[in-house]
Amino acid sequence: MAVIRSVIRGVGAYLPRRIMTNADIARIVDTSDEWIIERTGIKRRHIAEDGELTSDLGIAAARQALVRAGVDPVDIDLVICATATPDRTFPATAVRIQSGLGITKGAAFDLQAVCSGFVYGLATADNFLKAGQFKRALVVGAETFSRILDWSDRGTCVLFGDGAGAVVLEAQSQHGDREDRGILATRLRSDGRFEDLLYVDGGPGSTKTTGHLRMNGREVFRHAVQKISGVIEETLLMSGFAADEIDLYVPHQANKRILDGIAKKLGVSPEKIVMTLSHHGNTSAASIPLALNQAFEEHRVAEGNLVLMEAMGGGFTWGAVLARW
Ligand code: UT7
Repeated sequence: MAVIRSVIRGVGAYLPRRIMTNADIARIVDTSDEWIIERTGIKRRHIAEDGELTSDLGIAAARQALVRAGVDPVDIDLVICATATPDRTFPATAVRIQSGLGITKGAAFDLQAVCSGFVYGLATADNFLKAGQFKRALVVGAETFSRILDWSDRGTCVLFGDGAGAVVLEAQSQHGDREDRGILATRLRSDGRFEDLLYVDGGPGSTKTTGHLRMNGREVFRHAVQKISGVIEETLLMSGFAADEIDLYVPHQANKRILDGIAKKLGVSPEKIVMTLSHHGNTSAASIPLALNQAFEEHRVAEGNLVLMEAMGGGFTWGAVLARW
């Protein structure tokens, strides 16, 4: 039976030019290159210049995705920007991206699920496309986390960086079987009981300030391995694929040890896991499309491949998306 699937037509990414190494951070807080690499796998991160906004990063990533997709911006009728670091409290960064690309039709909105934002964005766009409400969606993950970090807290400032990634999704008719291209399964979860383990201590509705990121790293780590493994297993079960049938795992990039732990738990070989965090750290909602972009540029993903994306972030929120390239 014919069904509509959201097919990934193109991927793009953008990283700010300024690079901050572990040695640079060790000049600000009491840390070392050895500690950061050993505990996280991160070697450097990109930091946006003053005046370089989340929307600027998102627009650059989106332009590359659109060119690779061969899609004219005016043919996009839905823009979703997953971000926890919007340019302004409102309007939505997605609307600024939409207008920066010269798009005046359709709808644009931001989506807030922190590090799970891109997975949430894909699932949301997928439902709009499958329902026939829109034809082509741009899903962007864009962040300037450097602006909400407490640069005196070594437990968090060493972990994050700025960047953006984007994909173009198009509604296409498929056969409705295991060989279909496009998004095949999505699974989203959240549980607000864990808010105090990872949050920002400010906001327009509480402190009237932006606030700074706070995290109980050890506890988040413990939950991440367990919750992400669980949601991957649920997504595979829903779709009827086995873990070893997946060609490429494109995870949120928070900590190399978390990714190693998940691989071990699920019995996935390390070559199948895209790891990019060494050169840009944790870029929150941008990390999955940045990793997808790198896999694309390295020819690690080809048409017909099964790609599994997963993330966990503040909230907690977590989730996974299975797609055939
Ligand atoms: O994207 C959202 C999801 N976020 C995550 O998934 C992050 C999850 N958590 C983590 O990645 C890890 O917990 C961290 C990398 C944040 C920390 O690693 P850890 O192995 O859990 O270290 P820890 O917090 O248990 O701290 C161990 C020691 C402590 O010293 P003492 O108390 O043993 O003397 C910390 O004070 O390491 C110390 N420490 C540092 N030392 C040097 C913490 N941060 C640093 C640092 N440099 N940057």
